[in-house]
Amino acid sequence: MQAVITTIPGDGIGPDVVAEGVRVLQAVAERFGHTFEIRSALLGGAAIDATGTALPEETLRLCRESDAVLLGAVGGPKWDNPEAKVRPEQGLLGIRKALGLFANLRPVKLHPRLVATSPLRPERLEGVDMLVVRELTGGIYFGEKGRDRDADGQESAYDACTYTTGEIERVVRAAATLARGRRGKLTSVDKANVLETSRLWRSVTTRVMREEFPDVQIEHVLVDACAMYLISRPASFDVIVTENMFGDILTDEASMLAGSMGMLPSASLGATTDHRPPTTEAGVSANQSSVVGRPSSMRIGLYEPIHGSAPDIAGRGIANPLATILSVALLLRLSLGLEAEANAVEAAVNAAVDAGYITGDIAAPGEQTYTTSEVGAAVAERVRAG
Ligand code: IPM
Ligand code: MG
Repeated sequence: MQAVITTIPGDGIGPDVVAEGVRVLQAVAERFGHTFEIRSALLGGAAIDATGTALPEETLRLCRESDAVLLGAVGGPKWDNPEAKVRPEQGLLGIRKALGLFANLRPVKLHPRLVATSPLRPERLEGVDMLVVRELTGGIYFGEKGRDRDADGQESAYDACTYTTGEIERVVRAAATLARGRRGKLTSVDKANVLETSRLWRSVTTRVMREEFPDVQIEHVLVDACAMYLISRPASFDVIVTENMFGDILTDEASMLAGSMGMLPSASLGATTDHRPPTTEAGVSANQSSVVGRPSSMRIGLYEPIHGSAPDIAGRGIANPLATILSVALLLRLSLGLEAEANAVEAAVNAAVDAGYITGDIAAPGEQTYTTSEVGAAVAERVRAG
């Protein structure tokens, strides 16, 4: 097939890890006879430096013309002044919103060899295989925000959190559809004992599940309890669906189950609107048996590791590229419908880790480590070899 993929290396270690993602895409293209046209676009601090804005129009144009987007990370101390008018994070939030990417899929699975790098005891980690679906374009992230000053000169700040029925329905449907293709269990996380948005969230979720997904088991859990259960009984979760900010916090916590944030990929998906027609029919029927099956109403996708830009280690060749490479696997599966290719990338990652090609973040004390590009090359080689 032919596909256009826009890469957004971004800031910090973003360029280091995206380079390895591209290396693996090239290996896939060679082995399976595809043509991937790979373009590059600016976002975040890199875009602020070059254009004065965190999300240039040109970047959005390139993304809209693409079949998929592969992103590194944005942000860094250089742009960190909290009073600054333009911030790298605005670029990331802006692109999610502009592309309508309302469902953020963050699978958490543990490679057996990395059990020792997780802070949890091995017996707790047995059977951990969950998928967090985070609502990505609503809630407190996008509500009205501002500052006031009262008569005494005291300053206050506010961030409004709003959800509409439609916003809740579509992400719950996406999560429930994914649960159906897995172990058939959905956990909806809210704070319905305190927040009005959460009470709406819970009633909409209850209705959608009763009317449309009677075959999927649903449980409602308060976010504070969920934070505890992620540590005390992580294997009990299948699919978790939650609002934007809870999902942000819980997925950083959940990443520790997998040993390192350097291992966790993500996919941000929207509805099939305003996008190029599918380049292949394969996408429509593919991925029935995958870790992350794709609800058929989704196509446009942005793929990124869940870790940040780690400016302290940028350019030093020690960043773990596996989260980005696993994001490439999700890209192949969910946006291009290339299930065999996605499986080949995931198998190559497992084989490379089994063979000891790991960066320092997932190494046991005294274990040999490899550079970012050595790990990327080890995976690419295994993709080529099949
Ligand atoms: C994430 C990140 C972003 C978020 C930041 C960088 C704005 O933490 O993707 O989880 O909060 O969504
Ligand atoms: Mg986060």
